[in-house]
Amino acid sequence: GTGKFFVGGNWKCNGTKDSISKLVSDLNSAKLEADVDVVVAPPFVYIDQVKNSITDRIEISAQNSWVGKGGAFTGEISVEQLKDHGVKWVILGHSERRHIIGEKDEFIGKKAGYALSEGLGVIACIGELLEEREAGKTFDVCFQQLKAFADAVPSWDNIVIAYEPVWAIGTGKVATPQQAQEVHVAVRGWLKNNVSAEVASKIRIIYGGSVNGGNCAELAKQEDIDGFLVGGASLKGPEFATIVNSAT
Ligand code: G3H
Repeated sequence: GTGKFFVGGNWKCNGTKDSISKLVSDLNSAKLEADVDVVVAPPFVYIDQVKNSITDRIEISAQNSWVGKGGAFTGEISVEQLKDHGVKWVILGHSERRHIIGEKDEFIGKKAGYALSEGLGVIACIGELLEEREAGKTFDVCFQQLKAFADAVPSWDNIVIAYEPVWAIGTGKVATPQQAQEVHVAVRGWLKNNVSAEVASKIRIIYGGSVNGGNCAELAKQEDIDGFLVGGASLKGPEFATIVNSAT
């Protein structure tokens, strides 16, 4: 891979105070390889609990953020409020927000631009639907989503790209190492042609979609896979630690 291995645990809309307390204690006692960035993304209402109980070794991400400064935006959480809680990252453009909530490229790009301008790191998610893959449109879809980020962000310094094919998310159908590697190479190529050679070579591109303790090692061996964004398997502390420690 390129750069320091990065593993994010996206807890999605899961957990209770009790289950999260157990997960944090399992993570605190897990042995994590030193040379890996490790981030967890709890639901908003548990961020304070997690921040106050988790080891400093693990950074906190939000799963979403508002597109601008806070104010009269019922139900939203601002970047400023996240920073107030010690949050360092935000996941933007996750497929569940694109396809279930209906967030569009331009809105997602604006969110990324704002979060970065305020000093948060952005885990920028892209990925194709099954029907798009079957129609041979995987690269087109990923490039369009990348362009929306590129059009809106001030810099790529604080961005990690997460390639998550929608058909692999929560399905148990992990992409093969070759399928993931092929898209990661294409993403790097797009960045080289449309942003800069430096960004293309330095940026971390992580894979998400049914990553688990059993398949992470083969994926991690791929040259252009720089880490993982993990959903279901991040809810189990020991398995998440196995994924973190698959860093090559
Ligand atoms: O953000 C994480 C991805 O959506 C992957 O979820 O590991 O449950 O397939 P999953």
